Amino acid sequence: MTADSTPTLLVVHHTPSPPTRELLEAVLAGANDPEIAGVTVRSVPALGATIPDVLAADGYLFGTTANFGYMSGALKHFFDTVYYPCLDAVAGRPYGLWVHGNNDTAGAVTAVQKIVTGLALTQAAGVVEITGGVDAAARERCYELGATVAVTIAPE
Ligand SMILES: Cc1cc2nc3c(=O)[nH]c(=O)nc-3n(C[C@H](O)[C@H](O)[C@H](O)COP(=O)(O)O)c2cc1C
Repeated sequence: MTADSTPTLLVVHHTPSPPTRELLEAVLAGANDPEIAGVTVRSVPALGATIPDVLAADGYLFGTTANFGYMSGALKHFFDTVYYPCLDAVAGRPYGLWVHGNNDTAGAVTAVQKIVTGLALTQAAGVVEITGGVDAAARERCYELGATVAVTIAPE
């Protein structure tokens, strides 16, 4: 964040289907909650997110599908790209994570957590794991996730 800009929350996501789009939109709605003033929310697909995007942000939300017991290849590619160039620069910044799968998201969560631990990010909200259909409760959990992480970087 520079002196004349608002803090930025970078949302890096893999969103391959309508249900995962619903989750992303709920996360973004929460992050943009009108009661949270002074935060810029940037949503970028994982395959398009860059090192400057990460360096310029003040907090992060990561969203992925569970694929073969791991995070999506797209989010893995993102972390492969930014990890070493951003190491040290991002330490202590807050993050949140949501994962959607058919029946087992545990491996994807563990995989992301290992990487964000290496980056020394600070977990700002509980991981949101959603399996199967996306209902109102799932959307609400994603909304809360977005709002919770946005609040942590909002100006006093
Ligand atoms: C190649 C592939 C591997 C997958 N592996 C897993 C998995 O290990 N665990 C899981 O819960 N779901 C798995 N899924 C399901 C996806 O997570 C799911 O399709 C995705 O979250 C999108 O949800 P939707 O299909 O309901 O739109 C896999 C899907 C694909 C295409």
